[in-house]
Amino acid sequence: MALFDFNTNHKALVWTMFLVFIGLTCIVAYYPAYEMSSYEPLPDQQPLTQDQRRGLEVYVSENCAACHTQQVRNIEMDKAWGKRPAIPQDYVFSKARLNFWVQSPSLLGSERTGPDLTDVGNRKGSLDWQLLHLYEPRAVEPNSIMPSFRWLFYEVDSNFVRESDVVVKGLPDKYIKDKRKKVVATEDALALVDYLLSLKQHPLPEGMEAPEFIPLKPKEEKSGGGATASAGPDGKSLYEGTCAACHQSSGEGVPGAFPSLKGSGIVNNDMGETHIKIVLFGKDDNPNYGPMQPFGDQFTDEEVAAIINYERSSWGNDSAPVTADEVKEVREANE
Ligand code: HEC
Ligand code: HEC
Repeated sequence: MALFDFNTNHKALVWTMFLVFIGLTCIVAYYPAYEMSSYEPLPDQQPLTQDQRRGLEVYVSENCAACHTQQVRNIEMDKAWGKRPAIPQDYVFSKARLNFWVQSPSLLGSERTGPDLTDVGNRKGSLDWQLLHLYEPRAVEPNSIMPSFRWLFYEVDSNFVRESDVVVKGLPDKYIKDKRKKVVATEDALALVDYLLSLKQHPLPEGMEAPEFIPLKPKEEKSGGGATASAGPDGKSLYEGTCAACHQSSGEGVPGAFPSLKGSGIVNNDMGETHIKIVLFGKDDNPNYGPMQPFGDQFTDEEVAAIINYERSSWGNDSAPVTADEVKEVREANE
């Protein structure tokens, strides 16, 4: 009788299974954890603050990970979610346990019903937008299928809103039953948004190369087109992808939260400098609105010019276009 005849030697069968199990555990669980311990945080990466950790717990308990991933894969289609594919350093702080009993949850996610959130703090870096979107996604994204998380908010009579209350701005009337009430964010909602705004892809230190995205199609195929090759960036699709979240496809914004660009004095001023400055460096001088984040890091001069010119020639707006060179000048003069 052979030693490894599993048909007759039950001990060999059980031992083999046991050793294979231990081996696999080492490969898929211990080795990655051990390897993780050798990574250092990226230069401007910070551990979560206490408030952000609370937000992380809300994120877990509301099961946002059922629809959202936090991993930029190294394939072309993931370029929309970050400047580079994710690397182990991005997850360095998930080594810390939430508490003695609870391991830090893995939020990589496996379902992408909604967008990847790795870099959402850069994409949607606005407290007002995040609160409005959590309370009622359709107030900013008309076709959204994300559930509204209304239990993270409560209603207060307009006369009894305290100074410390954070009111959801720009909520259209149809979403509040009682017009005398204001919707106020709970501590949980604020912590969750604090956590979401902290989700940013950090730049790599000098000398460190990011992994590349694997292109969808072989490169040769692209050069076939010929005629359309030098069309330049498409201002409309860039606007739809980035700016419409707040200023809306109609350019009309969300009254009370995000200003209208349709008929805006800044957009319709033939001197484009202020318009360029706002897009590059953001804006925070109007007490009626929260701040708008800078977008200079996310777009090239050509792209900024394309977006601006789309705004200047849409929804009845009519003002002189700007050039990429003008954008470059404003960028250099203010940096
Ligand atoms: C049933 C699936 C689903 C669940 C659960 C869900 N979302 Fe979403 N989420 C979506 C979809 C779809 C979108 C895209 C449309 C939109 O912006 O509303 C989205 C968009 C977002 C965005 C904007 C992302 C971007 O880049 O535009 C954020 C932020 C977000 N969700 C946060 C959350 C948080 C926080 C939770 C948990 C409290 C959550 N989501 C739960 C489906 C979901
Ligand atoms: C997350 C929300 C948000 C996004 C995204 C956003 N903005 Fe804004 N924008 C604002 C807010 C809020 C203000 C008002 C800021 C203030 O006046 O203090 C504003 C103001 C402006 C203004 C000035 C309008 C006026 O008449 O005062 C322009 C122009 C503008 N945004 C262009 C853009 C462009 C171009 C993009 C896309 C690259 C963009 N915005 C993306 C929130 C946003």
